[in-house]
Amino acid sequence: MKYDFMDVLVSKEQIAERVNELGRQITDDYSGKDITVIGILKGSVLFMADLIRAIEMPVAIDFMAVSSYGASTSSSGNVRILKDLDANVAGRHLLIVEDIIDSGITMQYLLNNLASRGAASIRVCTLLDKPERRQVPIQADYTGFSIPNEFVVGYGLDYNQMYRNLPEIGVLHPEIYTNAGE
Ligand code: IMP
Ligand code: MG
Repeated sequence: MKYDFMDVLVSKEQIAERVNELGRQITDDYSGKDITVIGILKGSVLFMADLIRAIEMPVAIDFMAVSSYGASTSSSGNVRILKDLDANVAGRHLLIVEDIIDSGITMQYLLNNLASRGAASIRVCTLLDKPERRQVPIQADYTGFSIPNEFVVGYGLDYNQMYRNLPEIGVLHPEIYTNAGE
């Protein structure tokens, strides 16, 4: 699809192909194990829905929501849980599914938090990675696409809660930000 407010960075077809590859890899890596897939709301929902259908074994799913912090506040102390898991995850193999790893601060917080609950193992699957932006040394076990340092929307990712429903991932045109708040 063509949009007048963004340039497509990753197409529907590229997303579908990569999600299937990730699903196959996860299926192989965890063969014989029970896993709980934990989606981080809200950005991961589209990716999560497609990814779990590409994992060829029964999995449990659960969700967490954490607060985002303003651009100027980058200390890990500012991450807060808005919605916690429903289930006790002690002894479970956890796969965290996130939309994007940017500074890495959110994921660092999640890893520390979930490790303290006695999980058997924890791995991270992120749709997107912006390695140039990293402030803490966090690396995903599974990455959909590594992208340059640009603000992207679509396939779950938002700008001011908009654009999450777009089937592609794209870079918003600068005038969208300039006009924001007018
Ligand atoms: P981090 O803690 O800096 O790694 O931030 C991760 C969170 O910031 C993600 O879960 C997103 O919600 C948000 N984020 C970072 N970059 C982008 C982007 O390019 N588009 C949309 N949201 C983003
Ligand atoms: Mg997010």
